[in-house]
This record gives sequence, C-alpha cells and structure tokens, in this order.
Amino acid sequence: MIAVNGASGDVGSKVANLLLKEKQAVRVFGRSAERLEPFGRRGAEVVVGDAINFGDLQMLFKGAESALVVLSGDVSDPHYVSNRSAMSRAITRALRQQQVSHVVLASSIGADRDRGVGMVAGLHELEGLLFGLEDANVLSLRAACPHGEPAGEPPDDQGAEDQRERLKGDHRFPMIATVDIAERPPGTSSTATSRATPSRRSSAPRIGA
Ligand SMILES: NC(=O)c1ccc[n+]([C@@H]2O[C@H](COP(=O)([O-])OP(=O)(O)OC[C@H]3O[C@@H](n4cnc5c(N)ncnc54)[C@H](OP(=O)(O)O)[C@@H]3O)[C@@H](O)[C@H]2O)c1
Repeated sequence: MIAVNGASGDVGSKVANLLLKEKQAVRVFGRSAERLEPFGRRGAEVVVGDAINFGDLQMLFKGAESALVVLSGDVSDPHYVSNRSAMSRAITRALRQQQVSHVVLASSIGADRDRGVGMVAGLHELEGLLFGLEDANVLSLRAACPHGEPAGEPPDDQGAEDQRERLKGDHRFPMIATVDIAERPPGTSSTATSRATPSRRSSAPRIGA
C-alpha cells in the first residue's frame, strides 16, 4: 500500500494518477471527500482527515509500505508557520509509529534554510525530522518552487501572505512543472543526480518501483 498525502493537490494528484495507472494499491488523503472521490472511483482507498491530526495520519499510514508526504498550509492562516511545524511533527510521529519504510517528501528549494524562505518555511524542520526516522529510507525532492519568495524575508506567522504580495513582477526564479516532480518518485533509482533531486538520503524509496 502506498499512502499519498495531499492527493488532491498539484503534486499529490500527479503521483496518485501515476500510481493508479500502474495498478498500485494506493491510499489517498486530504480534507475533502469530494476532491478525493475521483481517485476512489479508480480504485484508491480514500481517507478523509486533517494532516495536523495524529489520529487521522495513523489511518493514512496504517499498513503502508511507502508514502508521499507533502507539507500543506494556507498562507492566509495567521498561524501558518506554527501549524506547519505541528503538522510536521504529527506526520513524522505517525510514520514512525506505523513503521512506513519508504518515504518521499515533496520538498522545495530553500529547505536547506531554517529562515528567510517565506512560504517554504517549515520544510527545513520536516526534512530534519524525516531524516531522523531510524528505520525508513527517506528521499527529499527539493524541487524548484512556483512561489519564488524573495530571500531574506522573515518566516513569521504573519509574513507569508505579505511576502507573496511583495514579489516583484520581474523577479527571476526557477520553476518546475508538478508533473515532472511527480515522475521522480516512481523512477528514483535512475534520477539520483537529477537537478530536481538535490537532496537525497538513504536508499531509493519503493514508490511505484
Ligand atoms: N506545486 C509545485 O510546483 C511545488 C514545487 C515545489 C515544491 N512543492 C512542494 O510540494 C508540496 C505540495 O505542494 P502542492 O503544490 O501539491 O500543494 P497544493 O496543490 O496546495 O495541495 C495541497 C494538498 O494538501 C491537502 N491539504 C491541505 N491542507 C491539508 C490539511 N490540513 N490536512 C490534510 N490535507 C491537506 C489539499 O487538499 P484539501 O484542501 O482538500 O485538504 C491538497 O490535496 C509542498 O510541500 C510544496 O512545498 C510544490
């Protein structure tokens, strides 16, 4: 069983689609049953829950051999950073408890820094937590980010929305299509040196392989 967190989102939906096409056993997760229903119709197991809730995450990861992890957040949330931190801890705790052996994180450029990265805030902490999972193979895909926050902005709870508004129209930043991110987990054994996979720990995850 492969658990896909954020399956109705940009990255998660591409991963879930690929896995279902490969006839893999897939469990999809998100807060909206309606948004997950199309995957259910194609044979995925659907779990509706909130990724900040440990109990919901236990259901997501139960019996799963592999997992795609995304870190969600609403930039208009006044507690954006602290909620993402709580979510990261809950996700890691549930993965450890359920002994998921292969984990792929949809991370981002900027995850190497613990501050000044705007909406990417929290991925640095989550990477550290996941790499601390003693019995799991963890791969973090630090993809180019479509948001393109200017460097040096404070990652405080109030800052994320402001930073997006301050982005200059001619600001240059790298971008990547989400479908290209999604194609990395199934083919990781051949993409270790790809520019889309600058961060790699442990051996290749077993997602669609
Ligand atoms: N998109 C890109 O091009 C890109 C590039 C670089 C890195 N990344 C990274 O990839 C990850 C995912 O990005 P994305 O673009 O796929 O995000 P997205 O399109 O915003 O999707 C977020 C997903 O998470 C779900 N979700 C949101 N809040 C949730 C919660 N509290 N509990 C459970 N599910 C929740 C959403 O569904 P519901 O709202 O229905 O719950 C949705 O399925 C992020 O960590 C991001 O930094 C993305």
